[in-house]
Amino acid sequence: MAAIEIKKNVYWVGVVDWNIHDFHGYSRSPEGTTYNAYLVLDDKITLFDSAPQKFQWDLYHQIRSIIPLEKIDYIVCNHIEPDHAGAMPFLMEHIRPEKVVCSKMGHRMLLDHFHQPDWPYHVVGTGDTLSLGARTVHFLETRMLHWPDSMFSYIPEDKLLISNDAFGQNLATSERFDDEVDFGRLMSATSHYYHNIVLPYSTRVLEVLAEVGKRGWQIDMIAPDHGIIWRSHVADILAAYQAYAEQKTGKRAVVVYDTMWHSTEKMAKAIADGIMETGVGVRVMSLKEYHHSDVMAELATATGIVCGSPTHNNGILPLMADFLTYMKGLRPAGRIGAAFGSYGWSGESVAAITEWLKSAKVDVVEPGVKAKNVPDHAKLAECKDLGRRVGQAIIERVQSRA
Ligand code: FEO
Repeated sequence: MAAIEIKKNVYWVGVVDWNIHDFHGYSRSPEGTTYNAYLVLDDKITLFDSAPQKFQWDLYHQIRSIIPLEKIDYIVCNHIEPDHAGAMPFLMEHIRPEKVVCSKMGHRMLLDHFHQPDWPYHVVGTGDTLSLGARTVHFLETRMLHWPDSMFSYIPEDKLLISNDAFGQNLATSERFDDEVDFGRLMSATSHYYHNIVLPYSTRVLEVLAEVGKRGWQIDMIAPDHGIIWRSHVADILAAYQAYAEQKTGKRAVVVYDTMWHSTEKMAKAIADGIMETGVGVRVMSLKEYHHSDVMAELATATGIVCGSPTHNNGILPLMADFLTYMKGLRPAGRIGAAFGSYGWSGESVAAITEWLKSAKVDVVEPGVKAKNVPDHAKLAECKDLGRRVGQAIIERVQSRA
C-alpha cells in the first residue's frame, strides 16, 4: 500500500502485513496487522519507528517513494521490539542518520538486540524535546506500554501523538483512518489487542492517560504503530483505554472448557443455563474451537470466568493448562470464577482449576462440580445451581462497583 500524507509533510510509510495470524507467537491476529512508521519532512527529516526485518525492503520502497533514505537525519525509535525495530540494522546502512533517538531503556535494548555500540544514540526521557525545525518533538516515556523502553512522541505543531503500541490494533486494511472503516470492527480489534497485549499494564495505562491529560497536550490525531490512525474518534479511543484499564466489567460470564468425551461439555452448557437464569449474559467457548486470545477478548467485558476440564493423568487437559497460564499472565482483575469437570477414577481437575484461578487472583465460587464419567440429570442440576451461584456473585460484584 502506497505511502500517504496524514498531516502536511507527515507521511505514513508503514507496511501492511495482510496474512499474519500469529502475532508474536501468543495472540491470534485474524485480520492481519500493520507496522506503521511515520516520516516527517522538516529541517531535520525524521523517521519514527520502522518495521520487522522481514519487511525492511517494503519499508525502503515506502520511504523511497517520498525521499531518498540518505536524506533522513534522525530515526526515533519509540520501542525496540522487533516488529518496530527489526529493520534497524538495514536502515542504519541506508540512512546513516545523525541521531538514533531512544529512551534510556531503549538504548540498552538496542545494544542488547543489535550489538552496535557505535550507532549515534541520543537518549531522551520524559519532558525532553527535540527540534526538527518548524516542529519540536516532545517525549513521554510509557514504560510497559508495551515494554520498559516504550515511549510516545508528541508533535504539538501537528497536534499529533505517535503512540507506538498504545491505541493500536491488529487490522490489515486498505484504509488508514478510523472514519474509513466500520467502527464496531475497529473497536473489536482494539479491544482484542488491548486485552491480549496491554492488559497486564492497566495500572500504567491509567498513569499514562493521567500524564497526557496533565500535560494539556492538544491531540487531534493519534498515530499508533499497528492498524488504523485515529483522527475522528480521538476522544473515543482515549475513553476506551480508560475503561479497559479500569476493568469495570459487566454482567457477563465466559464458560470455557476442554472435553474428551463431551461430559465436561454437557456440564458447561448446564452451568451456562444456570448463569442465564440469573439474567447474566454468557458465552460458552470450547478451547478446541477458540484460541486463548479470543477467550481473553471475550473476557474483556465479562466479570465471570468459569473453567472446566476433565481429569487427565491426575491433572487437567493441556489446552486448559495453556489457557489458565495465559490468563494468569494477563492479570485480569476483579473477576469471579468457578471450576467444573468430569472424571473417570481419580478426579483432581476441579481442585487443580480452583487453585489455578485463586493463584490468578480470581474470586472462586466454591464448591465447583465434579461429575463421574457421564453427568446424569441430578448432576446437571448441580451444574445449573453452580451457574446460578456464579451469576448471583457476578451481579453482586457489578452492583458493588456502581
Ligand atoms: Fe508492536 Fe511491543 O511491539
